[in-house]
Amino acid sequence: MKKLFLLFAFTLCCSFSCSPAANVTYDRRSLIIDGQRKLLISASIHYPRSVPGMWPGLVQTAKEGGVDVIESYVFWNGHEPSPGNYYFGGRYDLVKFVKIVQQAGMYMILRIGPFVAAEWYFGGVPVWLHYVPGTVFRTDNEPFKYHMQKFMTFIVNLMKQEKLFASQGGPIILAQVENEYGDIERVYGEGGKPYAMWAARMAVSQNIGVPWIMCQQYDAPDPVINTCNSFYCDQFTPNSPNKPKIWTENWPGWFKTFGARDPHRPPEDVAFSVARFFQKGGSVQNYYMYHGGTNFGRTSGGPFITTSYDYDAPIDEYGLPRLPKWGHLKDLHKAIKSCEHALLNSEPINLSLGPSQEADVYADTSGACAAFLANTDDKNDMTVVFRNVSYNLPAWSVSILPDCKNVIFNTAKVTSQTSIVEMVPEDLQPSVTLQNKGLKDLEWEVFVEQPGIWGDADFIKNGFVDHINTTRFSTDYLWYTTSIVVGENEEFLKKGSHPVLLIESKGHALHAFVNQEFQGSASGNGSKSSFKFKNPITLKAGKNEIALLSLTVGLQNAGPFYEWVGAGLTSVKIKGFNNGTIDLSTYSWTYKIGLQGEHLGIYKPEGLNAVKWLLSSDPPKDQPLTWYKAVLDAPTGDEPVGLDMIHMGKGLAWLNGEEIGRYWPRKSSTKEHCVQECDYRGKFRPDKCLTGCGEPTQRWYHVPRSWFKPSGNILVIFEEKGGNPTKITFARRKTSGLCSVVAEDHPMIHKESVAGTENNRTTTPTFSLKCPKDKHISIVKFASFGNPTGKCGSYTKGDCHDPSSTSVVEKLCLAKNECAIQLSEANFNKGLCPGITKQLAVEAVCS
Ligand code: GAL
Repeated sequence: MKKLFLLFAFTLCCSFSCSPAANVTYDRRSLIIDGQRKLLISASIHYPRSVPGMWPGLVQTAKEGGVDVIESYVFWNGHEPSPGNYYFGGRYDLVKFVKIVQQAGMYMILRIGPFVAAEWYFGGVPVWLHYVPGTVFRTDNEPFKYHMQKFMTFIVNLMKQEKLFASQGGPIILAQVENEYGDIERVYGEGGKPYAMWAARMAVSQNIGVPWIMCQQYDAPDPVINTCNSFYCDQFTPNSPNKPKIWTENWPGWFKTFGARDPHRPPEDVAFSVARFFQKGGSVQNYYMYHGGTNFGRTSGGPFITTSYDYDAPIDEYGLPRLPKWGHLKDLHKAIKSCEHALLNSEPINLSLGPSQEADVYADTSGACAAFLANTDDKNDMTVVFRNVSYNLPAWSVSILPDCKNVIFNTAKVTSQTSIVEMVPEDLQPSVTLQNKGLKDLEWEVFVEQPGIWGDADFIKNGFVDHINTTRFSTDYLWYTTSIVVGENEEFLKKGSHPVLLIESKGHALHAFVNQEFQGSASGNGSKSSFKFKNPITLKAGKNEIALLSLTVGLQNAGPFYEWVGAGLTSVKIKGFNNGTIDLSTYSWTYKIGLQGEHLGIYKPEGLNAVKWLLSSDPPKDQPLTWYKAVLDAPTGDEPVGLDMIHMGKGLAWLNGEEIGRYWPRKSSTKEHCVQECDYRGKFRPDKCLTGCGEPTQRWYHVPRSWFKPSGNILVIFEEKGGNPTKITFARRKTSGLCSVVAEDHPMIHKESVAGTENNRTTTPTFSLKCPKDKHISIVKFASFGNPTGKCGSYTKGDCHDPSSTSVVEKLCLAKNECAIQLSEANFNKGLCPGITKQLAVEAVCS
């Protein structure tokens, strides 16, 4: 009876998501959870880079993609906005996020840092800490260590309170301290190593009951596990023989900077790197990022990191699976998991199959045998013989044989469907209440800031101050203003010619005004934040006002001593006077921190009425320093939404007081090199497969659906240099089409085979298509069984084509959410064009 009661109590408790405590340990092969070896696929999703409404869906999509673990950093500067003031609301609700992971039945890796890099402003460390006297970040420095330990302990205690460590029945199986410190430890001289060792000891002393990791920390002391971050980690070995091989950051894409091209990493290469890692004894692999999300507000690092942190990740910024990448990796995970037992319970035997070809064979005592056959040649496909059977290995690929016989997956052969994703424009619609009053077109309300000092000056000083030390990042903006008196005898006045304004700045960007008139802008770029400005200007006789708006575009997020990197003006001169060039650098400069609209909070619902907005059906265009406001209806449908800012200059945007972020449709150069097709073969680098030459790096800005009310939404834009707000539209992110291609001889023939059971082979390849949830295949746009060519969206029939292709596909797929078609004689004319390996290519529309 007592037993029964306990069982009842336990079940009751667990139905409220309280799980039994788990014992997480490790040895050289893997993590061991409650005595069981684990092979784990992990996925980075950073909670503040999406919104709570998206979290369950993202986690679920990761789970469906074959992911076991969600990994996130903890973002200190989001949680401790001022010393001792903690914030865990909204996007920063860490506990809620971890519980969502737990409810999905997944594990969690918590990378507390608290330094995180992550293309996040100031690498996640609070800006205020830089101004605590005597503080130097990330070295053997008392104030830094004091605040780091205090925050770390706060987070650990919060997790403990909520019973979120696996040792307490929670999902957290690993925690990280610091981040890639080993790569720069030596630059910190004498303070480096003692700090790293202190961080490890301090972490271990937190008694969390699960192991700690330190990535790229070659000297991580026991029991802390050092882990690998790179595009490839198959050659990595931990620093002691009793630690498992863990890959904390496999970058499946890369981040973007304003004004640069778009990086892409091909799915074949991502899959290759993962398969090689498990082939070579790895046991935990994490995608950084699996969903990159959005740097809302001013949270991006850099400088110049875009507001989008899409990362070309398996789940895109808007939350949609990126196909075929997501699907290809899902297939890969399934293949690797089917080898789990053999992999984790045997020593590999390595066989050379050629100069750049090798097999690793894992045969355990139960008779299970799994093999990975790799061809690391980056050009040549090879036929190899393994256990008397010949296998074709495409260049730069791994074949997975969970029974040591049948290939169920090859990293270079993508069988997953591809999607065509579009941004469908939709005009901004005035709010229903306004429409009822007869308003058809959207009306903008406008507030224009005057260039230069508004209200009282903050301070006056001879020469320049550092921008960041002055704003302390309370705003992106700092006004540097001065004046110059021009004598009537200056030649340029008589000739009507123009003196030239010459400015040098440490970064990041600048808009120049003379006598209230906009003179132009200049900015640094991803690789160099400093820049020069050189523009002819118009000066008048007498006093001339020079007002220079200096800007930050994301704070430095990594590198040794990164917190000391400054910004702002270093030199201002005017060339073309009778006496030559006048240097204004040592003049008396008057400073103002931030904009008036920011100061009054006119982007927030409660501050909207702090200024007098002018209503206009024809708002000013190309007008710098302008605030625009409109009251709108939510966009139709339920797809994710972006704001199309291609016709605007540069600035900030908010919806209902929520910070959308910095917009800047800055274009990359047309002169740079972009690829049409990316060759997946060979080592990947972020500059290998770039697209978008001459296009804005970021045109659309994610506005989460949960920020919208059905009607009466307030969109506020601050435009710095001039744009056309009447051309702003929403865009709904829509999967408009799906494609899939499967060949007669595809390795998926063996897909259903089970390890060790050789006869379990399906001989007919199966083609499948699946629409997003609640959508159905409504049109079969293209179908050809034969030798079709082209890419998804532009397939064409070849000279070999089965005329019944479309009707067969329509019969089996129309009106279905998903369908499977066997490439069988019953469905297609297999005898057609003998000697040709035929394939079925289909493009369909889901609606
Ligand atoms: C790593 C770092 C991450 C992230 C990544 C690039 O070095 O640990 O936080 O910055 O690079 O996306």
